[in-house]
Amino acid sequence: MVNDEVWKLPAIVNRFLSYRAAIPLAQEQIGIMMSILKTNEEPIEKFLDLGCGDGILGAAILGTYPESRGVFADFSEPMLDEAREQLKEYAGQLVFENLDYGEPDWVSRMQPHGPFDAIVSGYSIHHQPDARKRPIYEEIYSLLKPGGWFINIEHIAAATQLTIDLFNNHIIDGRYAIEKANGGNKTRQEISDIFMNRPDKDANILLPVEVQCEWLREIGYESVDCYFRVYELAVFGGRRPN
Ligand SMILES: C[S@@+](CC[C@H](N)C(=O)[O-])C[C@H]1O[C@@H](n2cnc3c(N)ncnc32)[C@H](O)[C@@H]1O
Repeated sequence: MVNDEVWKLPAIVNRFLSYRAAIPLAQEQIGIMMSILKTNEEPIEKFLDLGCGDGILGAAILGTYPESRGVFADFSEPMLDEAREQLKEYAGQLVFENLDYGEPDWVSRMQPHGPFDAIVSGYSIHHQPDARKRPIYEEIYSLLKPGGWFINIEHIAAATQLTIDLFNNHIIDGRYAIEKANGGNKTRQEISDIFMNRPDKDANILLPVEVQCEWLREIGYESVDCYFRVYELAVFGGRRPN
């Protein structure tokens, strides 16, 4: 199994979803994504949530722009099932696509649905090799309307071991709190061992956010910045010029 394919396993999907509350400042990251999108004068009409998982980012867009039409793309059928379930009240205006954006032909699958006012992605593109990340950012650019935003909420490489340790400790504390709140009896050490040896860890290919922002500028995105960062997580992106 290729490393990132672990995301097709229901057990991995369930663990990620049940422990999401342990991600530091996850709601704030989505809030910043929405603050950026709201700077557009026109409402979002079409968006793409790439590597959507259960569709949490697209759900936030639908909450603010309930008339918008969204494409939710992921290569994990268990994740797409979660997204369909979570978003069933909007079913008539949504498309769910099982695709692997690691393969360049994903773009031709998306073109009939675009161009998009916003393409968002959460903790997903870091599963791609670095040599593939930059072409994906170019492909995303090609699918944006002029003025459209790409916002990546992403797991990125930290500059120090201390940052990594702080990040891991935050998540382990959060997972331990969830375990206790659910009446579980695992110790913090057991939770830590499970987290540090998790099967999806090998699927992470982390790169500094500065490198990725520079790529976006070179591709032609404007207003590129890392708008928020906590430990190994960053909200960064830019827009296609008008
Ligand atoms: C950590 S989850 C994040 C899910 C969601 N975006 C969120 O923010 O909660 C990563 C998601 O990316 C998807 N993914 C990873 N590699 C992919 C690929 N090459 N093509 C499509 N989806 C991919 C996984 O199936 C998984 O649903």
